[in-house]
Amino acid sequence: MCGIVGYVGRKDAESVLTVGLQKLEYRGYDSAGIALLSSGEIEVRKKAGRIHDLINSLSSYPLPKAHIGIAHTRWATHGRVCDSNAHPHISQRGLFAVVHNGIIDNYSLLKERLQSEGYSFSSETDTEVIANLLEYHYLKEGNLLEAVLKAVKELDGSFALAILFKEDPNLIIGVRKDSPLVVGLGEGENILASDPVAVLPHTKKVVYLNDGEIVFVRKEGVEFYDFSGRRIEKEVKVLEYDEEDAEKGPYPHFMLKEIYEQPRVIRANLERYVRDRRPVMLRDLNLRKLLLNKNRILVVAAGTSFHAGIVGKYLLETYAHTPVEVEYSSEFSSRKLATDSRTLVIAISQSGETADTIDGLRYAKKHGLEVLAIVNRPESTIARESDYVIYTNAGIEVGVASTKAYVAQVLVLTLLALELGHVKGHIDDKELERLLDDMAGLPNQVEKVLALDSHIAHIAERIYKSTNVVFLGRGINYPTALEGALKLKEVSYIHAIGYAAGEMKHGPLALVDNKLPVVVINPRSSVYELTVSSTHEVVSRGGKVISVITEGDKRMAELSAFSIYVPSVPEPLTPIITIVPLQLLAYHSAVLRGVDPDKPRNLAKSVTVR
Ligand code: G6P
Repeated sequence: MCGIVGYVGRKDAESVLTVGLQKLEYRGYDSAGIALLSSGEIEVRKKAGRIHDLINSLSSYPLPKAHIGIAHTRWATHGRVCDSNAHPHISQRGLFAVVHNGIIDNYSLLKERLQSEGYSFSSETDTEVIANLLEYHYLKEGNLLEAVLKAVKELDGSFALAILFKEDPNLIIGVRKDSPLVVGLGEGENILASDPVAVLPHTKKVVYLNDGEIVFVRKEGVEFYDFSGRRIEKEVKVLEYDEEDAEKGPYPHFMLKEIYEQPRVIRANLERYVRDRRPVMLRDLNLRKLLLNKNRILVVAAGTSFHAGIVGKYLLETYAHTPVEVEYSSEFSSRKLATDSRTLVIAISQSGETADTIDGLRYAKKHGLEVLAIVNRPESTIARESDYVIYTNAGIEVGVASTKAYVAQVLVLTLLALELGHVKGHIDDKELERLLDDMAGLPNQVEKVLALDSHIAHIAERIYKSTNVVFLGRGINYPTALEGALKLKEVSYIHAIGYAAGEMKHGPLALVDNKLPVVVINPRSSVYELTVSSTHEVVSRGGKVISVITEGDKRMAELSAFSIYVPSVPEPLTPIITIVPLQLLAYHSAVLRGVDPDKPRNLAKSVTVR
């Protein structure tokens, strides 16, 4: 949610910052802006629209040459999408320029106070308050660090800030509370950003800021402070990603690239978590003890990760015999918990930065519950604050609609459920080995589904003009229906609902007519026959069925206008295979409708606001 980047060094700051913004564009893309410090003056250019609109406008209204600056890509919270609300925001006397990711809850009170001190405001944002508050304290204190400390202590809410100070042409200040911030350490240059992806083109050496920390970034080095002004030492980490991980390569969109990366992601997780035909997650004795001591699991997650959680529920209940509830993280933290110390919370998140899920994790810990995180991004807030972490090893995911991270989450949950079931004695060695052998075949099976791309593109041509699409699934593929519908609606703007196939007759059946495409996910499984019956109910009312079914299934094919055949895999593994054609269907529908699937309107990849 909003991307911030700051640079100080020898290079041309404008080009470093515009590339940085492009890397961070997935975090928000309704406006963008840059502030540079050149010849003692802060120069700002900002614009509603995409980053390329800002870049285009720079050719007619160029920025001066500079080696220091800050920049922002916005996902609006306070204030409409317009040029004046775009960041950076400048303090009244022009001493400070600020870019901000987060929300200042008490901004109207602070604004009134500053107005009574003679400050006027030219935007509707909470961020302009920060710029003026810094200036107010600086003019009173005459000391920069003191001014920053005073200002941040007054701010309630979440914020990652990059600040440019007119009186020091070699300084960017970064501040973090509840929104991510990382500093990349280069040679004679340093870069501050919301996400390491913006740092990668320059260096792999990084320092992650924790909540309540401030960094003074200069060309020659960095200094860290806590919110009481004490100097602190921080550990330098080395990024494990390569720059190409954050590049589109030959693909027209990140979403397509990431869909095609799924076989590799499955392989990476199998290599990491399976040895000699045994899952090895629970070789960590502390994690094993933790799971064995719990008699109930609460999964908290948002969006696609929530859907992975529902697949996890089916698997953990089936194999580990542990009751599991799955809850939206945004709901979890606002209700009373009927839990005890034997309840484990599992927080699932690709980014590890989703504000609602962070709240859920903190709420759980406040209630004395232990938290296991299933997270893709190492060093993220959720990874750092949880008691235990299992990584999903999907690499950097840029497309706003999660694809490879979902498959990785489901795979990891499958391995966890199988291993826990085995340790608890509910699965014998033979069954475990059989399922692991089948899992070893998944990368090739997914490749076979990817080979159906042009067939799926052809089906997309038949549905992309629809106004509604219904997705039906049952049992372990009910969450596949939810996820298939979410993918389609978020990237193509076609209204789509996912429904439990058996529940359809209690409502959505009323929607069925001869124009309604109904996607039925029905691979061979224990609920196959029941789902065939649901399909009959759709077909007899004129619905046009698109089925995702097991190779050779003639019965379902006869009921379908279009069939997508997936390879035969055991029931617990079907969600990994069946979601892939639905991702492609959503992707092609978006492209046919002229929507950029990597940047659907109003959305952002990392939702760091509540
Ligand atoms: C946003 C993204 C989704 C993602 C959800 C949860 O809505 O657009 O793709 O599933 O956040 O994100 P997380 O990083 O916690 O998995």
